[in-house]
Formats: sequence, C-alpha cells, structure tokens
Amino acid sequence: MTFVAPAVSLHGAVAVPGDKSISHRAVLIGAICEGETVVRGFGWSEDTAATVRAVRALGAEVVEEGADVLRIRGVGLRGLRASAEPIDCDNAGTLVRLLAGILAGQTWQQFELRGDESLSTRPMSRIAEPLAQMGAGVESAEGHLPLGIEGRPLQAITYELPVASAQVKSCVLLAGLYANGQTTVLEPVPTRDHTERMLRAAGVRVRVAPGRITVQPPERLELGEVEVPGDISSAAPLVLAATLLPGSDLILSAVGVNPTRTGFLDVLERMGARISIFNRRTAGGEPVADLSVAHAELVATEIVPEEVPRLVDELPLFALAASMAHGDSRVRGAEELRAKETDRIAAVAEGLKGVGAHIAATGDGFRIRGVPTRPRGGRMASAGDHRIAMLAAVCGLASRDGVEIEGSEAVAISFPGFFDVIDSLAQR
Ligand code: S3P
Repeated sequence: MTFVAPAVSLHGAVAVPGDKSISHRAVLIGAICEGETVVRGFGWSEDTAATVRAVRALGAEVVEEGADVLRIRGVGLRGLRASAEPIDCDNAGTLVRLLAGILAGQTWQQFELRGDESLSTRPMSRIAEPLAQMGAGVESAEGHLPLGIEGRPLQAITYELPVASAQVKSCVLLAGLYANGQTTVLEPVPTRDHTERMLRAAGVRVRVAPGRITVQPPERLELGEVEVPGDISSAAPLVLAATLLPGSDLILSAVGVNPTRTGFLDVLERMGARISIFNRRTAGGEPVADLSVAHAELVATEIVPEEVPRLVDELPLFALAASMAHGDSRVRGAEELRAKETDRIAAVAEGLKGVGAHIAATGDGFRIRGVPTRPRGGRMASAGDHRIAMLAAVCGLASRDGVEIEGSEAVAISFPGFFDVIDSLAQR
C-alpha cells in the first residue's frame, strides 16, 4: 500500500529505465547470437529479470557488468538446450510470446513455458496457431499456459495477424529465422517494430513494405552492442503528471521515440499539451530524443482503432487525461486492453470512477466526460498490474485528497524506482 499525496507541480530532469520491449529482445536475440553481445542501458525490472533467468536456464551466459550493462554469451541460433525445470515467464507476456518463436526452431528439443496467475489467464492460441502451422509441436491448456513446445523443422508461412500484436508478429518472425524459406507477416495496423530493427542490426535480411514484413533465414546472428533507449511507456506517467499540474517543468532525457510507440505524445499534443521533442538522434537502430513538458489545459479527443497500437500501454493514462480535459472523449477499437496483465478496460473504469472521474467502460474502450479540475482522490487497486498502479500514482499527484494505492508494488514489473522518481520531482 502506498499513499501518493497531491503535488503542486513536477520539476526537474530525469532519465527513465531502459525500454522494456527492447530489453527483452536484446536478451532473447543476444542468447541466439554467435559470440558476445553487450547491452547498455538495460532496463532491469521484474519482467526483464524473468527473461535473463529464462535464457540462463536455456544455456546462454549473462554477466552483469554494471548497473545496466549486460554481457551475453550467445549459444548460436540452434544452441539452446531444454532445462530440467519448466521455464517460468512470471508476469511477462513479451517473454513467453517471443521465446516460444525461438524455441519452435530448436529441433527435437522439448520445452515447457509457465507463468504467474495473470499470465496464465492470457491468450496463447494467438501464438500456438501460427507456430503449429509452421510445423512446431505445440500444446497448450486450451489456449493458455502451460505451453509445451517441441522444436521441429519449420515451414515458412505467410501469416496474417488476426489481432494487431507486436508480440505475435515477433513470435512468427523469430520462428521464421529457422524456416525453410521466407516467412511473411501481414499486419492490419502497424505495431512496434523493435524486433525487425534488432534482427536487421544482427544481420538478418528483413524486408518491410506497408503492412508486410518478410524475414529470410540467416546463417548466423551477430549483434555486438545494443544501446537501449529510455522507455517511453515509463516516461508517459511523468509526461502526463507534468501536463496536468500547473507550473510544471519536466525534462526527460534519452527517451525512445520510435514512431510506432509515440502515439501518447501525439494524442496529448492534439489535446493541447506542451511537449517538445529535441536532441533527436539514433542509438542502437532506434530513434531517441529528450523531452520537455510544461503544464497545459487539455481538450477532449477521440482515439480511433487504427491508432490504438501506437499507445496501447498508455491508454489507461489517456483515460485520466481525458477525464481532466474540456469536453467528452472516447476510445474505440481497444478491446485488446482486456487481454493485458488484467482487464484494463474494467480496471481503469472502476479505478477512475472510484476517485471521482466520469468514465464508462464500453466493449472496446471508454467514454469519458471531462471535468477540468482535480479529481477527488481516494483508493485505487492495481489489480497486480503495473500500468494501473502508475495510473493511480498520477491520479494521486493530480488529485485534491491523494490516492491510496493497493498493490502499489506492481510498479516493479516495469519501473522499480517509480515512487522514488515521482517523490524527487513532485513539489508539494
Ligand atoms: C509488447 C507489445 C504489446 C504491449 C506490451 C509489449 C512488445 O503487446 O502491450 O506491453 O514488447 O512486443 P501486444 O503485442 O500483445 O499488443
């Protein structure tokens, strides 16, 4: 339980932890490289620690060389070895989905993937189906974990994603590294492309056309060095708090601004936010920049289905922004939120209602009546979901009475030092 008191404003400059999506990929791909990969700016969190444990259990060596530097001794594309125990993916959806694609290519080895209670309720048929089509041996508990995978010789396929999911896309592309020809994924709407970028950096031939990604199976992978930018999804709660609190002035350094991830910044800007993106550069094949954020009054907007993947993890924060904006807002086409660490449509609507906001859940999103003043505050439960815990904290900062967060420790799933960072920035 953590109480987040109201703040007057947010001031200062911080760096957020390394991007979680890119950190998972660096360790998973590093594990199947030839030779050593050095990962700088690795974002340690409960989720990424599960990935490090998983590749160690499968035979790759991971040496911690500093607070956020890892040296991975890869075993080569086909060198992973089944462990005696099942692989515990804990709460990490990205780990289980991406690793499954790699394991499908470890010919005649048998693996079992498990997860915590939340991960065990999340859909796995979305990866089991394409992997089975490629010829892998896949067994799930009616579409859920535990997942048994037997690596087999794989057929290249062309796979049209039934849901806009970077995890499913990545799973198929990673399995495609082991297939007997070119594997193509067709995606209805662009989703984060970190896997494509990192595979390219590792020497894989990846062709990208609008809505279509093709990989050619390589002889070997070699990454060398990966520099992980700050996680825009961890920056997002701070960006929102600074936007909502009058007098704020916040700088965030070295944040990843990959255009497949910046939907929340674009949406806030169209609502009137004052965010500048400067010092644009490229690091490790990913766009990076510094951000500065000042307070602004917000106006309502509508989120349409095509833009959902670009801010999927930030939609809970959007709901808070909209509830403090002028006018009525809506989110459509976000039914995927029901398949996250918890049902985020239900958790956000219940949580925000409980602190005084006017929000209603719909089948595929929210309807929100904006009231441009501080919400009352009160109690919010994280439901074990890191994004809901961080939403509750921003709510506390922007509220009249503060917010008591039940299950606040969930922030460690992606951002272990989150409460210290907000304490260091908040003026009270
Ligand atoms: C992720 C993809 C998204 C996102 C998750 C991380 C990734 O999930 O919500 O937090 O690293 O590929 P989906 O692919 O299920 O949309």
